[in-house]
Amino acid sequence: MTPNVYSDKTEAVLAVAEEMTNLIKANNAANQTTVLGLATGGTPVPLYQELIRRHKEEGLSFAKVITFNLDEYSGLEKDHPESYWYFMHQQLFNHIDIPAENINLPSGTVAEDEIEAHCAAYEKAIVDAGGLDYQILGIGRTGHIGFNEPPSDDSTRTRQVILHEITRQDAGPAFDGVENVPSKAITMGVATVLDAKRIALMAWGESKADIIAATLKGEITPDIPATYLQSHKNAQFFLDQAAASKL
Ligand code: PGA
Repeated sequence: MTPNVYSDKTEAVLAVAEEMTNLIKANNAANQTTVLGLATGGTPVPLYQELIRRHKEEGLSFAKVITFNLDEYSGLEKDHPESYWYFMHQQLFNHIDIPAENINLPSGTVAEDEIEAHCAAYEKAIVDAGGLDYQILGIGRTGHIGFNEPPSDDSTRTRQVILHEITRQDAGPAFDGVENVPSKAITMGVATVLDAKRIALMAWGESKADIIAATLKGEITPDIPATYLQSHKNAQFFLDQAAASKL
């Protein structure tokens, strides 16, 4: 795979935003829905800001957009400031015209004995919506996409997982200490992600350079779940110079 490398993340974000805009506009014109797979973390924040700008200044409508987020921390209520439900509403949903009923995230508070059914229902909801048209991804330093920590292979579907220690450390500052970071999460699987028609993985900054190099230069392996993107017909990496610096 040859990644798209941009002078900075602003340029990279514009390229992803343009793809998403063209897709949403074409579907809106045909009176069809657009199904987006969305991600949290610092990486997509400038993309969400650009999409909000396009909504407010250019009239890009999300009224027919349906979203499925990759993951959610187990144990966090929706209104917990670090829940992904809260994050998505703060960073994107509260600022665009998406109907509330079109927004889907795994639940952080589903009872232990209902998790399996909840995950199966999430998979079914994606299929019933017509499948993911466009999935955006960040990448963790463990090589995770969503919360698919190593080892995760391309048979994995939506399920509860145990978070890697590096992932918990990276989240520590936001939670005021690693001891407050949940130990588990519900995530779409690698197979769920690979079913998307188009996948855009974004990575910025030097801290991502090693894992980006390992992901793009290495063999496909469950030890670096992001390597499965190499097997997808329509996946692209959008990188800034620093994230691409070890390629
Ligand atoms: P980040 O996280 O966007 O905050 O770097 C990415 C990830 O862990 O997938």
